Amino acid sequence: MATTRVISIANQKGGVGKSTVTMLLATALAKQKKKKVLILDTDSQASVSSWLDSERNLYDGEPLVEVESYQPRKVMDFLKRFGNDYDVIFIDIPRMTDNSKDSATVMLLYMCDSVLIPVIGSQLDVLSTNNFASLVKEAAEEKKNLDFDYRYFGFINRDNQRKDNEQARKVLVNKVGLPMLDASLKDLKLFTTPSLYESILDTAEGRRRFEPFFNEVLKKLKIK
Ligand SMILES: Nc1ncnc2c1ncn2[C@@H]1O[C@H](COP(=O)(O)OP(=O)(O)OP(=O)(O)O)[C@@H](O)[C@H]1O
Ligand SMILES: [Mg+2]
Repeated sequence: MATTRVISIANQKGGVGKSTVTMLLATALAKQKKKKVLILDTDSQASVSSWLDSERNLYDGEPLVEVESYQPRKVMDFLKRFGNDYDVIFIDIPRMTDNSKDSATVMLLYMCDSVLIPVIGSQLDVLSTNNFASLVKEAAEEKKNLDFDYRYFGFINRDNQRKDNEQARKVLVNKVGLPMLDASLKDLKLFTTPSLYESILDTAEGRRRFEPFFNEVLKKLKIK
């Protein structure tokens, strides 16, 4: 039996590209890898769901991925009942409300088998990622003790100033102990309008800018 993968692009910080990268990966997996993909939008701001609503008028037919809006506490029930209907489920987790352990976020992290942590390469972002990375590491340890596979990686999003980004990557690997993807995503207008009806890998520019990242994610998360 094929097992459903549950992935989250998450960080306690807001505005680092969680929803954007979720949509880019989800649509590419659906289109290029023929996966049945669902995005569970657990953000009370419902950014992915609103994005879909705004796109419905622009496109005929169905989006490449399904989107459902769910309160965090109801996600477990949803996964139990409908999880097996999908190859890959992305949980879009909202930013955390404060620095203390946010129970809804922690609960959602435990439901995943893979977490990707976007970081924007400034000193502050790197520091705030420290707290979040320890939550993810804790979840990973506990899940591994129960014999579940759990993978997590950080990656640099909105990569622009090489020096800053390289420094951030070093701090994340050496001080925070967060394994990092080699590929990063550049700060590009291309990434600001992800569509739920189209895959970014269907254009030459999209392939050039997104495919190395996409391929590394597939490889590191062991998605065939
Ligand atoms: N690689 C990128 N290049 C250019 N713009 C980007 C990139 N990644 C994200 N953005 C922009 O940054 C803003 C925040 O992105 P997004 O909403 O995905 O972040 P988020 O982490 O989901 O935020 P929130 O915490 O509010 O849910 C958006 O305007 C998005 O278009
Ligand atoms: Mg978001």
